[in-house]
Amino acid sequence: DAEPLERAAALLSSGAKVVVMTGAGVSVSAGIPDFRTPGSGLYDNLQEYNLPYAEAIFDLDFFQNTPQPFYRLCKELWPGNYSATPTHRFIKLLHDKGQLVRCFTQNIDSLETAAGLPKEAVVAAHGNFDGAHVAFGKGAGTEVPVDELKEAMLFDGEEKWRALNAKYGGLVKPDIVFFGEQLPARFFECAMADFPKADLLIVMGTSLVVQPFAGLVNNAPPAATRLLVNRERVGEDSFGFGGRGFDFDAEGSRDLFHQGDCDGFVADLVERLGWRAEFERI
Ligand code: APR
Repeated sequence: DAEPLERAAALLSSGAKVVVMTGAGVSVSAGIPDFRTPGSGLYDNLQEYNLPYAEAIFDLDFFQNTPQPFYRLCKELWPGNYSATPTHRFIKLLHDKGQLVRCFTQNIDSLETAAGLPKEAVVAAHGNFDGAHVAFGKGAGTEVPVDELKEAMLFDGEEKWRALNAKYGGLVKPDIVFFGEQLPARFFECAMADFPKADLLIVMGTSLVVQPFAGLVNNAPPAATRLLVNRERVGEDSFGFGGRGFDFDAEGSRDLFHQGDCDGFVADLVERLGWRAEFERI
């Protein structure tokens, strides 16, 4: 149904301020699998690591005892091998037009900055590879030059990262938020500051199953339109926090759902807005 596209285009062409929330789905067309799509998702493809359960790859206790699987994932995911997608470039275009309040992402691939977005326009809620610290051991908390970690990660074999861990007095981890770890303070600061400014919330490529990120949906002011662009319908539960999730089916609802690929929706929206020339220059 064309309503989501029409209503998003009407808001954007009238200068609406936008908060964007993204998940792994927006990077799938860059070649980075998402986590939970059956078959192709990362969590269905970790057999070689014989993890006790898939999400163990981001579990601190598991990492402390068995760092190899996560270090292997770092090697595969380290930024530099992937390009920004049309969806990342659309978010950059919103920034260029002065309409992006902030992009909150769960992704650790830094493709937002690869698309040209300045770091301050992005909140990497689950961290990324910009920095590294010692996670355990007597050196816990020590900052580690991320280039040294990158070199150790990209090297086949364990001797490099074992030497790095010995050098810094413990297990070195890029600043990626593991399950049970606190999200960066910036996440909470920006969530409070940014959402009240939103005329439009656009949520793309996420299953909205991980808190506290998913609960951001409830931060949108009552007058704001909330648009989900996703291959599957998600986010209709209450997210705990006492708020309500999306209510797509209510008469005159401010919640809109476009089922499909984000890149396709973005292409149609850019066309509808007459923004194609600018978009293609991003
Ligand atoms: N366009 C739109 N939606 C897509 C696309 C696409 N091209 N490809 C996949 N999707 C949808 C999937 O249908 C799914 O609903 O994106 C969603 C991806 O969900 P997940 O794989 O669960 O990824 P995400 O929501 O980002 O996971 C959240 O979980 O594992 C932790 O910390 C990790 O940040 C991650 C968090």
